[in-house]
Amino acid sequence: MQSSRRSSWLQWLVLCTTTRIHLIKAQTAVSTLLVPDTNTILAINLPPDSGDVNFYISTPDWYQYTAIGFGSSMAEALMLVMYASADGKRVTVSPRLSRGGTEPVWTPNVRIAVHASSINDNSDMTVNATCNGCRALAQDLPSIKTSAATPMMFAIGPSLVLNSDDLDARIRRHSAYGRFTMDLVKATGPRGIGFDAIGNVSSSSSTALEGDAFHRDDDKAVTAHGILYAIVALAVAPFDSLVAGVLGSKGAGAWVHGVTASVYFAFVIGAMVPGVIVSRQHVATQQFRTGHQVLGLLTIVAMAVMFLWGIALSWIKRSAKKRGREPPESTQRLATVHRWVCRLIWALLLVNVGLGMQLSGQRLVLILAYVALALGLVVVLVPVYFCIWRCSKRQQEKEEGPHELTIYDHNYR
Ligand SMILES: *[C@@H]1O[C@H](CO)[C@@H](O)[C@H](O)[C@H]1NC(C)=O
Ligand SMILES: *[C@@H]1O[C@H](CO)[C@@H](O)[C@H](O)[C@H]1NC(C)=O
Repeated sequence: MQSSRRSSWLQWLVLCTTTRIHLIKAQTAVSTLLVPDTNTILAINLPPDSGDVNFYISTPDWYQYTAIGFGSSMAEALMLVMYASADGKRVTVSPRLSRGGTEPVWTPNVRIAVHASSINDNSDMTVNATCNGCRALAQDLPSIKTSAATPMMFAIGPSLVLNSDDLDARIRRHSAYGRFTMDLVKATGPRGIGFDAIGNVSSSSSTALEGDAFHRDDDKAVTAHGILYAIVALAVAPFDSLVAGVLGSKGAGAWVHGVTASVYFAFVIGAMVPGVIVSRQHVATQQFRTGHQVLGLLTIVAMAVMFLWGIALSWIKRSAKKRGREPPESTQRLATVHRWVCRLIWALLLVNVGLGMQLSGQRLVLILAYVALALGLVVVLVPVYFCIWRCSKRQQEKEEGPHELTIYDHNYR
């Protein structure tokens, strides 16, 4: 008697509990993320007894892309990168993977079914899609764990236009990103993602990504690389040429030119380092095959050779002087080669800064401003160099009269 009473009481309890669970389940099972800084809302629903992930996102289209990642680091997360389609009316949803802090590349092993996507006049992109079987992908792919605090990532691209249907379109490093956790247990349930009476996505759990958790990520390496090379091409290189031209290559002049050339060379090597770092982050530049990179590396090699060439020349001259002799006649030819190759290097630097600006997607106005500045500099400096050359030649003729020329470097004094 006693035991049967207890069992019926237990039955009631079980019945009540399951009814309650059913009531909760009949409500929404959607977790949402708000990113106030980018006016983004992301909603996720995991249908029960399925490997699918339903997601809905509303985000502005003024970034190159908006991306979400399921995981705590890029190397271990499936990322969904979303950007405007070629016609600018729909959204391309590209599942991607990355080997670490590098540009993620499209994986054909993940299937996304886009139910609806649009971009409205207000520049809002919306996507309603399902990532098929994404909670348990193949063994070598990251899977999505269902927990009350599933680690996730969010990122937006720089403000560049991409507009592409290509799932493997090249993208740039994010300009802001953040990590957060989502309650995917509360997101598990039937009925997908729906809207409430006032048209908002209804959610059973919501979280926000804001404040310090959402980091700006200016690409400092790109900026440093660009600014340093602009200084080299527009100031350091022409200054070194002026020094070499005005002070000549004898005595103290040779020393001053040695110092300016060393500073110049150090600048060029130092400015290359951030360029190499950036190159390794992006698929398009990882092989060092773009025109800008090839020209840059060739220029640096030529410069290293000319740097040693200059040192060798001054050493030959110095040791000849020590022995009280004139340096061999061939040094003059070597000096002429040194001078002209260095002028060519300067021209290549000027051109390559422009190519770099183009490669990094700078605005056309900025590129044109640079071209105008570079051309202006050339127009001003070429006559100056010519004058220096003429003056020093005349002076040298006066001094030496009919004597055989014994001069080997930048000018004839
Ligand atoms: C998304 O698409 C599914 C399937 O077509 C639909 O049932 C659901 O209501 C849509 N949700 C939203 C938020 O548009
Ligand atoms: C609905 O969305 C608007 C913005 O679109 C927001 O201001 C409002 O607080 C939301 N309402 C609820 C109940 O979340």
